[in-house]
Amino acid sequence: DKGAYPYYMLKEIDEQPAVMRRIVGQYFDQAGNPQVDEAILDALAKADHLYIIGAGTSYHAGLVGARMIEKYAHIPTTVHISSEFAYDHPMLSEHPFFLFLSQSGETADSRQVLVEVNENHWPSLTMTNVDKSTLSREATYTMLLHAGPEIAVASTKAYTAQIAVEAVLAKALGQFLKHPEADEFDLRSQLGMVANGMQAITDSKDDIEEIASRFLSKTRNAFYIGRAIDWSVSIEAALKLKEISYVQAEGFASGELKHGTIALIEDGTPVIGIITQDKTAGLTRSNLEETVARGANAITIVSRHLAQETDTIIIPDVDDNLTPLLSVVPAQLLAYYTSLGKGYDVDKPRNLAKSVTVM
Ligand code: F6R
Repeated sequence: DKGAYPYYMLKEIDEQPAVMRRIVGQYFDQAGNPQVDEAILDALAKADHLYIIGAGTSYHAGLVGARMIEKYAHIPTTVHISSEFAYDHPMLSEHPFFLFLSQSGETADSRQVLVEVNENHWPSLTMTNVDKSTLSREATYTMLLHAGPEIAVASTKAYTAQIAVEAVLAKALGQFLKHPEADEFDLRSQLGMVANGMQAITDSKDDIEEIASRFLSKTRNAFYIGRAIDWSVSIEAALKLKEISYVQAEGFASGELKHGTIALIEDGTPVIGIITQDKTAGLTRSNLEETVARGANAITIVSRHLAQETDTIIIPDVDDNLTPLLSVVPAQLLAYYTSLGKGYDVDKPRNLAKSVTVM
């Protein structure tokens, strides 16, 4: 039931702080240690490569999680689009482990990969929001997202839940493998800060609605740009905008713009820069300025410690690997308000279904 909300999507965006707190409650003990089934950690510890498989938003969540697995567990990790991997996969390592990300647990493209994984007796783990879904039943192991039912076609809280549960896995596995940096990663308190930060962003809805109406309501196209982890979020942010507001949006590695795509910038083209990392902030800002020099309207989503006076949306600071949990929220809201402003059915965009059970 969506209660007082006009659309499920807005309700689900607003539920994200509670989902973060629920994940903390489900996956941590009193002492702040992550709780992950030891059989999963054992199996992962034997792997020499982790293949993360997903479609759409789940694929995007994998891009973010892979960094944490590599950083804390030191297992080489690559992320793959399931509909591609099923027909064209890279040379596999000797001891592969497969992590399936799927909100619904029913996506046919991802299942196609799991069928092959099972034929080869490779170990697998499905992270899903739906208990006893096909992908969780057919994988060796399963972990639940605990996001609660997601009704809107555009995925929001499942994306942030996937990243949070991937972080839990990364920390638990890193500690299991005795990597000291995993001990130092205070994930439980970070997720608490993330929850508060999400709340602060959703409390500023009116500002975001105004930005959507000023910059996005009339445009035919838009760009999200960023580097590294901010690029991973850019792709997800662009997908949200396309699927519900029908604005042709692209998420772009900001350094690549000058290699071709900048030709598309015209007077008034919205270019939204996501800036959360010290290492890349200056570079993304200068790429953004290059678009402004060609007429773009620049909008920025920036972590507080990097903020400048001219920035548009300031988000709270959290651990560098967890910034997507906050930077995506304004993007979800920008997509929501752009769609709402155009009078579209936000929850049921044209041509799309919640669970894609065809290949
Ligand atoms: C986008 C969206 C889709 C799904 C994709 C995979 O908002 O919802 O891109 O993420 O169809 O679905 P699941 O995660 O159920 O496998």
